[in-house]
Amino acid sequence: MTKFVKQSKEQEVTNKLAGLTSHDLIELTESGNTAIFAALYIARKQCLAKDKKTILKTKVLIPDQAGWFTYKKYPQMLELEPIEVKTDNGIIDLKDLKNKLSKDDVCCFIYQNPAGYFAEQPIKEIHNICKNKCITIMDVSGSIGDNELCNGNYADILVCSFGKWKIINIGYGGFISLNNMDYYNNAIEIFNLTRFDPAFLDFLSKELDVVKNTINTLYKKRDEIMLKFNDFKIIHKKYKGVNITLSYKTKDELNKIIDICRKNKYPYVICPRYHRLKKKAVSIEVKRL
Ligand SMILES: Cc1ncc(COP(=O)(O)O)c(C=O)c1O
Repeated sequence: MTKFVKQSKEQEVTNKLAGLTSHDLIELTESGNTAIFAALYIARKQCLAKDKKTILKTKVLIPDQAGWFTYKKYPQMLELEPIEVKTDNGIIDLKDLKNKLSKDDVCCFIYQNPAGYFAEQPIKEIHNICKNKCITIMDVSGSIGDNELCNGNYADILVCSFGKWKIINIGYGGFISLNNMDYYNNAIEIFNLTRFDPAFLDFLSKELDVVKNTINTLYKKRDEIMLKFNDFKIIHKKYKGVNITLSYKTKDELNKIIDICRKNKYPYVICPRYHRLKKKAVSIEVKRL
């Protein structure tokens, strides 16, 4: 049973999101993090024994970098154990993913597409590997509006933030989407605790109408900006994403990159950091432009 009969404006918004995700069941949330918590809560419930207390599969796979902080924090709050999967500069190492799934102790895998907002993931391969082994949760905060990357056919659950500097930049809220009613019902107590502020529905609806255009404009900007960094090493240059990540070796190289960013007013973040890359790199935050 769904929580309540959706109001018409909310229904209009969730219909648009269904079209963008290929998922029928959509719940708007107060934030992206609420959606992540709900997704992990659903996965945990699926892993409970008949006594409804013992957790049969306790591990949550997360990327070793280019994810989001709560992928690590929330499993711990749910008495689950986060385990890092290796990545090639953010892109999931499929061999390591397979290995980590071999012991039948994994509850779910949560990852971001594109990795750290800059590198498209092999979602079909990931889904194939995880299918029948664990629940796949894909964070589409950086790909909503792109039918290839934000594709619910290749994940059991999608989560997304509409927060500041996201693709849908309304500074508030997010959603969780799925196709499986049992999974949805697993999180009903969470959905009953949170309420998307209806004051944002109009703004959100308008943003959803133009989101394909929004992401395509960001892709174009990214391509243009990349030309300014031809002399540097752009990581996963050929992969789709909305940010640009450059690796550097020397302080001098770093200063040159920062200089170009400052002159052109490109926002940037210096790594190492978990939500981008855990090495010497600069993330040019095209998504903020
Ligand atoms: C990829 C990703 N997922 C989830 C979140 C959390 O979203 P929120 O700030 O709406 O809780 C963020 C926030 O920046 C994010 O970048």
